[in-house]
Amino acid sequence: MAKTKPIINVAFVGHVDHGKSTTIGHLMFLCGNLTQQKLDKLKEEAKKHGKIGFEFAYYMDRFKEERERGVTIDLSYEKLITQKYEVTIIDAPGHKDFVKNMITGASQADSAFLVVSAKEGVQPQTKEHVWLLKTMGVNDIAVLINKMDTVEYKEDAYNKVKSDVSVIIKGAGYKPDEVKFIPCSGFKGENLKEKSSKMSWFKGPSVLEQFDNFKMPEKPTNLPLRMPVQDAYEIKGIGTVPVGKIETGIMKPGQKIVVLPGRTGVGVEGEIKTIEMHHESLPSAEPGDNVGANIRGLGKKDIARGDVICDANNRPKVVEEFIGQIAIISPLGVIAVGYTPVFHVHTAQVPCKFEEIISKTSPDGSTVEKPDFLKSGDVAKVRVKPMGNLVLETQAVNPHMSRFAIRDAGQTVAAGVCIEITKVKA
Ligand code: GTP
Ligand code: MG
Repeated sequence: MAKTKPIINVAFVGHVDHGKSTTIGHLMFLCGNLTQQKLDKLKEEAKKHGKIGFEFAYYMDRFKEERERGVTIDLSYEKLITQKYEVTIIDAPGHKDFVKNMITGASQADSAFLVVSAKEGVQPQTKEHVWLLKTMGVNDIAVLINKMDTVEYKEDAYNKVKSDVSVIIKGAGYKPDEVKFIPCSGFKGENLKEKSSKMSWFKGPSVLEQFDNFKMPEKPTNLPLRMPVQDAYEIKGIGTVPVGKIETGIMKPGQKIVVLPGRTGVGVEGEIKTIEMHHESLPSAEPGDNVGANIRGLGKKDIARGDVICDANNRPKVVEEFIGQIAIISPLGVIAVGYTPVFHVHTAQVPCKFEEIISKTSPDGSTVEKPDFLKSGDVAKVRVKPMGNLVLETQAVNPHMSRFAIRDAGQTVAAGVCIEITKVKA
């Protein structure tokens, strides 16, 4: 039987029209996923819409409105098998009206390509997307300096954009020395699959080769057990069975656990009796597994959606106050101190109050300390107080338990991560 390759999710992000969809489409053509016949059809359709040159982008832009306007609106996905990985490519929109979709894409990504046109250089969404990637915890990025054909494949033009992008990514917390920069032409197909003879001055990888340079996404089995509870059932003859997806660590029968915050807010202890998946009993379960667990010492009232089943010897905290780094997506008006929207953290939903806006970086890259309010596109550091019991960890300790979405009146207002816990309850 063929050995399956590890899966990696790679997003393409960057300013509108810098060539994300075109680069992906052309790479798919060179790799044989898009046939000449299909490409000819797309070319014809692009011509019909007055969008000559968008044929490769049309491969990813599948909706009528996207094709007519020549912009990506929603995320689209494509599979690619490389030497090392089974890749899911996530094509994100660059247009500022669809940042919300880009953030969703970033939240699904293990790694990302930031696409910057060699002709236009750094633009507003170049900066914004860098900050959003960082905020959403995508630490492994590469930069494609695209449209090299428009600057005659010159090394000088590449170096200029490379140095401008380095400043931006450094500002957001990346280390430019550790980030690969790759020149290419998505439209002409240069340096996509094979190295380009037009840029013999470049000694680095092609776009295809870069996929294999991305770090292997880890199954976080070495972190302590955390299973956020989706629901808890009372099953006759068995007892209380909480169900959920294991985020980190390993679950085994006989293991001592604690349910936090639990009904009491300080945790309820128990022991894993059995673990079930698809009606079969398991000897152990790992991250990504959706399981039901029967727990000795636990009653129906002790556990509910939003609780986390944790390793009893390595407990997370129930937080009283924390500092989050957040990206504002679409606020309902401006956001100021006192604002109390609902934070969605793993399976928990807890109203949290903004106690302090520590600093913010606007989409233009300027930073302000202690601003009065936050607007769409801002990335900010805020001090927040949960109005209920909430288990949360910092990005450094357990990234899988640190992310949250902020929602208000049925829409996502912001997304972020916990970077510091300043006060704990238990
Ligand atoms: P959004 O998804 O809407 O943000 O745009 P995008 O980044 O996906 O750009 P897209 O691939 O739709 O390309 C936009 C335009 O740039 C099209 O006209 C492409 O033909 C052109 N383009 C893309 N890559 C290149 C390139 O390498 N060279 C040249 N000359 N044009 C390119
Ligand atoms: Mg696109």
